[in-house]
Amino acid sequence: MIRETIITSCSPQGVAHIAPMGVHVLDDELLIMPFRPSTTLDNVLATRTAVINYTDDVRVFAGCLTGRRDWPLLPAESVPGQRLAETLAHAELELLRWEEDELRPKLYCRVVHEANHAPFRGFNRAQFSVLEAAILVSRLDRLPWDKIESELAYLRIGLDKTAGPNELEAWGWLMDAVEAFKHGKTDKAAPI
Ligand SMILES: Cc1cc2nc3c(=O)[nH]c(=O)nc-3n(C[C@H](O)[C@H](O)[C@H](O)COP(=O)(O)O)c2cc1C
Repeated sequence: MIRETIITSCSPQGVAHIAPMGVHVLDDELLIMPFRPSTTLDNVLATRTAVINYTDDVRVFAGCLTGRRDWPLLPAESVPGQRLAETLAHAELELLRWEEDELRPKLYCRVVHEANHAPFRGFNRAQFSVLEAAILVSRLDRLPWDKIESELAYLRIGLDKTAGPNELEAWGWLMDAVEAFKHGKTDKAAPI
């Protein structure tokens, strides 16, 4: 199983970095697989720690993909790192071992501390739509345009029926990125 999360990592100099990442849930371990090049990869290898944030604020996912990475942070408790200030829960990780790969190294981690901060209040289709659209946006330069348009049209159904203000704002940022790409204002999106 893969959980879509926000990973906060820190450089050895203490500079925090925020990135959406899928986390693979294994029996006793969590597996993070960043594509090279990745600041998250560099930071986790250098500090041997990472923090997973379980948030339903999809603006953080869409924001990170559209240049809005400045989300409020608080110090982690058991590792030298930071967590999102607004998150339902977070887990602090220690890197156990890693497998080198020129495309996508594997970082095997274990949880050393976990905390809940707010209740999970149920699934929301608009949040799913934003997550899927964020993944499309990260692949704009590699997907056929008609596929992007047809998938966005489908995702918009759940958005229109169930979104709140956060989901609408996040969707708007992503659609701005799609429009900018369409008009040749940007030519590069990060890979997933
Ligand atoms: C829902 C979602 C899941 C993602 N999962 C991954 C992932 O597992 N690995 C990865 O390298 N990038 C993933 N990305 C894309 C990264 O967030 C993005 O490329 C980011 O810039 C990673 O590079 P960084 O570590 O240099 O920030 C994901 C993006 C989204 C929206």
